[in-house]
Amino acid sequence: MPHRGLAELSEPLAWAEPYRTKMVEAIPMTTREERKRFIAAAGYNPFRLRADQVSIDLLTDSGTAAMSDTQWSALMQGDESYAGSRSFARLQEAVAEVLGFPYVLPTHQGRAAENVLFHTLVQPGQIVPNNMHFDTTKAHVHNRRARPVNLVIPEGRDPQKPHPFKGNMDVDALEALLEKEGANVALVMLTVTCNNNGGQPVSMENIRSVSRVARRHGVPLFLDAARFAENAYFIKQREPGYRDVPLCDIVREMMGYADGCTMSAKKDGLVNIGGFVAFRDEELYRRASQFGILYEGFLTYGGLSGRDMEALAAGLREVLDEHYLAARTGQVRYLWEQLDALGIPLVTPVGGHGVYVDAGRFLPHFRHDDFPGWALSVALYEEAGVRACEIGTVLAGRNPETGEHDYPEQELLRLAIPRRVYSYRHMDVVAEGLRRVWQRREELPAYRFVYEPPVLRHFTATFAPEPIAAPASRSTHPAG
Ligand code: F0G
Repeated sequence: MPHRGLAELSEPLAWAEPYRTKMVEAIPMTTREERKRFIAAAGYNPFRLRADQVSIDLLTDSGTAAMSDTQWSALMQGDESYAGSRSFARLQEAVAEVLGFPYVLPTHQGRAAENVLFHTLVQPGQIVPNNMHFDTTKAHVHNRRARPVNLVIPEGRDPQKPHPFKGNMDVDALEALLEKEGANVALVMLTVTCNNNGGQPVSMENIRSVSRVARRHGVPLFLDAARFAENAYFIKQREPGYRDVPLCDIVREMMGYADGCTMSAKKDGLVNIGGFVAFRDEELYRRASQFGILYEGFLTYGGLSGRDMEALAAGLREVLDEHYLAARTGQVRYLWEQLDALGIPLVTPVGGHGVYVDAGRFLPHFRHDDFPGWALSVALYEEAGVRACEIGTVLAGRNPETGEHDYPEQELLRLAIPRRVYSYRHMDVVAEGLRRVWQRREELPAYRFVYEPPVLRHFTATFAPEPIAAPASRSTHPAG
């Protein structure tokens, strides 16, 4: 029997991935004793594990996609000229065709696009509203001595609340902010899909409304387009009136409301490295160009080689294949359904690029500063060799003004699924690993910092486990 998600698809071929394997990569196999040693030696930080100590790597869906034969052959056509590269022209054409933006500055990845854009538009003391800033976006706003503000709708802050578009921005809150601080708002951003609350999509209606409000106040709107194709697929599936609209038209409409976008091409660009910032307006592009040249490289390569730009141009087109997106979102949903059936608390509904476990509810006796998502990530690695990523207090970092932990609204563990890499059977292994952790959840230790770096601390911090009293003997304090 196909699982629930698949049974909805009438065409049997749609049950399967629309690609087959031409080359394989061996998966490292380890024992539980080895994994316990490896993670202890890594300072209980999954980011510090060696990849050959990990069997199923769900740390991120960023830069981890399998490229297609089309993309691999495009690499061979890379034009490595410093200026006027033909590969840049191909990238520019793909960006114009797929996203509708005529001007593009290639960057080495998404955060570099943020750096270039924010140097162009953000002045110290200004405010940048977003549905939810991704951590690098937030860090780059801070780096400009400006203030990031998250204006996601209330449903988007509650892992349990059902809503088809939990990435939506609270338009009234944006309106109020612009009324009060209009002159001080540098730009408005919308992250599609919204990574930090579960890969939740933003509806077309919301993009349209946000655009209208921003425009009325004369403030530019940029999309963080890292997962634009997955967002478009959700619009097609979940938003009335879009079922029969081709995905390419949905994407063009989404982008049509914006003045430009930043792109981490390591996600929906289907490449292992790359990014860009794209603009509709030539004057803005000109202003940004000087920062592009300063921080990334000349206009026609930015932070990329010619072959990178070729692979990206091909990836931008491939990612809008509806069969691919059905298989992609279907696989994420398959894992979500298995974990849900076990009673494991999850961010609901399922998002686009991964399953987010509600660590706050998984470990309700943990406080925020016991790092529940972190504890789960270590336990899952020890149990099944699966590497996942905390999206909680550790990742959120400290408030630069107060020095206190910048407690997030949700304590999550993200199981991010690389594109076109793992099989459904691998998802079964992940589910079984988490089932076993769920069974012994009252035994998991808390974690304390041994070394805490000042910025983006999750990447390099080290920790020590600390036993924590079982729920019955501890005054409970919901982490979520
Ligand atoms: N915006 C979003 C929504 C992202 O998810 C990321 C990266 C970036 C910007 C920055 O892009 O990594 O290319 O510099 N997200 C990765 C992740 C790291 O694991 O979710 P980058």
